[in-house]
Amino acid sequence: MASSGKQRVLSGMRPTGQLHLGHYHGVLKNWIELQKEYECFFFVADWHALTTEYEDPTIIEKSVWDMVIDWLAVGVNPGAAKLFIQSRVPEHAELHLLLSMSTPLSWLERVPSYKDQQEKLTNKDLTTYGFLGYPLLQTADIIIYKAGHVPVGEDQVAHVELAREVVRRFNNLYGKEPDFEDKVEAALKKMGKKNAKLYKNLRKSYQEQGDIQSLEKAKALLESQQNISIGDRERLSGFLDGLGKAIFPEPQALLTPASKLLGLDGQKMSKSYGNTISLRENPAVVEEKLRTMQTDPARVRKTDPGEPSKCPVWSFHQVYTDESTREWVVDGCTNARIGCIDCKKPLIDAVLKEQSPIRERAEEYMNDPETVRGIIADGCEAARDVARETLEEVRDAMHLVYR
Ligand code: TRP
Ligand code: SF4
Repeated sequence: MASSGKQRVLSGMRPTGQLHLGHYHGVLKNWIELQKEYECFFFVADWHALTTEYEDPTIIEKSVWDMVIDWLAVGVNPGAAKLFIQSRVPEHAELHLLLSMSTPLSWLERVPSYKDQQEKLTNKDLTTYGFLGYPLLQTADIIIYKAGHVPVGEDQVAHVELAREVVRRFNNLYGKEPDFEDKVEAALKKMGKKNAKLYKNLRKSYQEQGDIQSLEKAKALLESQQNISIGDRERLSGFLDGLGKAIFPEPQALLTPASKLLGLDGQKMSKSYGNTISLRENPAVVEEKLRTMQTDPARVRKTDPGEPSKCPVWSFHQVYTDESTREWVVDGCTNARIGCIDCKKPLIDAVLKEQSPIRERAEEYMNDPETVRGIIADGCEAARDVARETLEEVRDAMHLVYR
C-alpha cells in the first residue's frame, strides 16, 4: 500500500453516549483542525468501554452510533480522516496479546489511572485482568498504525508514556531486520542522488566525529523528504543512530488543552456530574438550562455586585462572545448594572446558533443510518489494511510465521 509522507495522528474515544459542548470545544474542534494537516485515524474505543461496562454491555451499541453521528455532525470529515470502530479491527487484540507477553505487570500496576479509577468507580469491580490491561490495549491501538502523534487530554498522557516504554522494549527485543542494509540503500535512492550523498556524509561526520549538528541536519533532511514511506523513514533514522530499523516509532502525546467551558454547576463539564449541555440538546432545554445555571453566589439581588471569575457563566462568555460583550459583562457585573438574565441572553443566542447546523446535520445522519454504516465500513477497511500490514511485520519480527 502506498503511504503518504504525512505524519499519522491517532485518537480514540470511549463510547459514553451523546457528546456535550465540553467535548466539542475541547476534543472535537482540535480533531477538525488536525484532519487538515495529518493523516488521521479516529476510532470508537468500544473494547475500552467494555473494561468498565462488562456487566451490561448492551448500553455500548447505541452509544457507538450516537457518538459517530456527533463526530460527523460537527465536521469530522470521513474524506480526510479514517473513522472506525476498534472491535472491527481485531488485529488490535492480536497485537495487545503479543505485547502482553513482554510487558512487566509492574508497568501496568503503576499507571496512575489504574488505582484512581478503581477508587473512584466503587460501584464497579475493576480488579480484572482486562482493566489492568487497559493502557496496553491503548498502546496496541496507537502503535498498530505507527502513529507519531496522539492527541489526548492530561489524564491520558501517562498512557502514551507507557506506549513509548513498550515500543522501546519491543524494538530492542525484536527490531532487527535481516536485510536492513539493502533496504536502507533502496530507501536512500528514493531521496535522489544529491540528497542521498549529503545524508551519508552527515551520518559519517556524526558517527565518526560525534558532530551533533550534522545529526540535526540529517534529521531535518529526512523530515523534509516527501516521497518516503513511514517504514523507510524508520530505517533511515535507524541508519543514522546505527541501531537498525525500529519496528515501531515512539508515539508522542499531543496535549489537548482542556476546554475553558465549565459545567452548569461550575465543576468540569462531565456526564457523571449531570452538568452538561449535550451537542444535540433540544433548544428549549438549552434555554432552560442556561437560564437556571449557577452564577456568582454573591449576587443574590441585581443590586449586589458580582465577580465574573467566580461565575461559571463567565466561562461560557470566554468561549462564545466577543471582547466588547465581555467588557459589558465585566462592567455590568462588578458594578451591578446588569442582571444575570441579561448576562446570559447573548450566550443562549450563541449556543443555539452554534447548535442549529449541528442538530440539522445530525438529524440527516439519523434519518440515513445506511450512510453512517457505510462511512464506518469504509473507515474500518482502510484501518484494517494498515493494521494487517503492521501485524505481518510483527509476526515476522517475532518469528511467528511457520507457513
Ligand atoms: N483511553 C482513552 C480515553 O479514555 C480512549 C482511547 C483508547 C485512546 N485508545 C486510545 C485515546 C488510543 C488515544 C489513543 O479517552
Ligand atoms: Fe455571572 Fe454574569 Fe451574573 Fe456576573 S452578571 S454573576 S458574570 S451571570
